Amino acid sequence: MRGLFITFEGGEGAGKSTQIDGLAEHLRSAGYNVVVTREPGGSPGAEAVRHVLLSGAAEPLGQDIEAVLFSAARSDHVDQVIRPALLRGSIVLCDRFMDSSRVYQGVTGNLDPDFMRQLEKVAVDGVVPDRTFILDIDVEEGLHRADKRRGSGTADRFEKEGMAVQQARREAFLALAKAEPERCVVIDAAEDAESVANEIAFHVTELIEAKKMANPEKA
Ligand code: TYD
Repeated sequence: MRGLFITFEGGEGAGKSTQIDGLAEHLRSAGYNVVVTREPGGSPGAEAVRHVLLSGAAEPLGQDIEAVLFSAARSDHVDQVIRPALLRGSIVLCDRFMDSSRVYQGVTGNLDPDFMRQLEKVAVDGVVPDRTFILDIDVEEGLHRADKRRGSGTADRFEKEGMAVQQARREAFLALAKAEPERCVVIDAAEDAESVANEIAFHVTELIEAKKMANPEKA
C-alpha cells in the first residue's frame, strides 16, 4: 500500500491525542494527506459499538464478548476508513489499535491467546501498522493527568480499573514493544510535550524516507 499506517498506544493520560494532533498538523503543513482516527470507533458503525463498550453496557456479557465487539468495530474501521486511506497514499494516524486489544483484553482481560490471535487476524485483515508508538508513563502520573483532563466527567469502563491493572497494562505494552522492536517504539511520555513531539517527528521522518513516500506538494 502506498500510504503509511502509524498507531499510538499506551495507558491512560499518556498524551496520545495531543501528540497525534500535533503530528498531523506538522505533516499537513509539509504537504502530506493525513487521516486522524481512533479506536474503538473511527467509522460510523464502529462509533456505535464504541458507545456500547465504553459505557460498560457490554461488561455483563464478559470480557470475551467485549473482545469480539472491539474486533467487530476494528474490522469495520479497517474496511471503511484505514485501508481506503492507505490505498490513496495517505498517512493514517490512529489513536489505539490492535495492541490495545492485546493488552486490555488479552493480557489484563486474561483471554486465551489463540482466541485473541484469531480475532486480531480477522479484524485487521493484513492491515498491520508500519510503526506503533507506545507512549509510556508512570501509572500514577498518567491517572493524575487523565483525572485533570476529565474534570467533572466520569471515568469510562476501562479507565476506572485500579492501579494494579493499569500497572500490568504498562508492563504488557513494554513487553509487546520488546517482542516486536521493528514495529514498536517506546516513547518516554513523562517528558514535556514538545520533546515528545520532536522525538516522534524524528522517527516519522525516518519512516517516510525509508518508504520513499512522495510528498504530494513536492511531486
Ligand atoms: P478513549 O476514551 O478513546 O481513551 P484513551 O484516551 O485512553 O485512548 O477510550 C478507549 C478505552 O478503550 C481505553 O480505556 C482503552 C480501551 N480499549 C480496549 O480495551 N481495547 C481496545 O481494543 C481499544 C481500541 C481500546
